[in-house]
Amino acid sequence: MAISAKRVGHATFETPDLDKAIAYYTNVNGLVLSEKQNGRAYLASKTGLLSIVLEQGNAAQLKRLSFEVSPNTDFGDMAKQLSTHGVRSEVRTDAIPGVGKLLTFIDPAGTAVELFADWSYLGAHHQVHGAGPLKFGHIARVVDDPKKMAEFYCNVLGFRVSDWIDDYFVFLRCNPDHHTVNFIRGPKTGMHHIAFEMKDFAHIQNACELLALRKMPINWGPIRHGPGHNVAIYHRNADDQNVEFYIELDQMKDEELGYYDPRPWHHDTPQRPKVWSPKENPNLGNLWGLPPAPDFHR
Ligand SMILES: [Fe+2]
Repeated sequence: MAISAKRVGHATFETPDLDKAIAYYTNVNGLVLSEKQNGRAYLASKTGLLSIVLEQGNAAQLKRLSFEVSPNTDFGDMAKQLSTHGVRSEVRTDAIPGVGKLLTFIDPAGTAVELFADWSYLGAHHQVHGAGPLKFGHIARVVDDPKKMAEFYCNVLGFRVSDWIDDYFVFLRCNPDHHTVNFIRGPKTGMHHIAFEMKDFAHIQNACELLALRKMPINWGPIRHGPGHNVAIYHRNADDQNVEFYIELDQMKDEELGYYDPRPWHHDTPQRPKVWSPKENPNLGNLWGLPPAPDFHR
């Protein structure tokens, strides 16, 4: 049975200032600090989903990305599957709160991927101080070759292509969400942004007010993206990484039908996966028009 990623679990970041990063994720983003030990911090959403792991280190960078796979997956079978694609993997039983056994390997852009099937909530109904997203929803990365990454994530982990922008930006889904991972071509490989799902537009507005009070300017938004049609705002976190809060991401509720759940803001009827052309649609980044502030691309 092919490997089937079901959702993104947690992302692990190295940070040069662990306490500052924890302060951002708890007081601004609105996660809860579940555990801190040996230079590592584990942050959960208010629902109790482990979302972000921080590690004290030299640089601010993405280290690892985890995905939940089908329940009862045989880890031996999964390792065999990976080896047929020339990928070496190993089973790890890291003491990550709430997460059981992991199968880890390095993806073609050099980030460690951790697959897990067993997990539990880290508490529930947490009171949070910051914006308080519903979940960690997607991660966009800058890579040399987005086509190669798309083929790898589709062939090896069961992702599907949701949209392309020309041949330089691909959006991939592993569940009804339009995208869980994105790859954009760029000279400097690394993270492009991480994104958290909010409840509704009022929740986005609350986040705008909170960011203003924390003197953390929004560097793009509120906008409505073309691909994915999510309403979004962006800001930079304590490690100078772009963070997105979004709502209304396109949903592919039925893979056989092959179109996104119809919405009044769709320009195509039905809205199907396609290649978006910036020449034909210069506003595809933001259908409402406003371009990002220079700080977004910095
Ligand atoms: Fe995004």
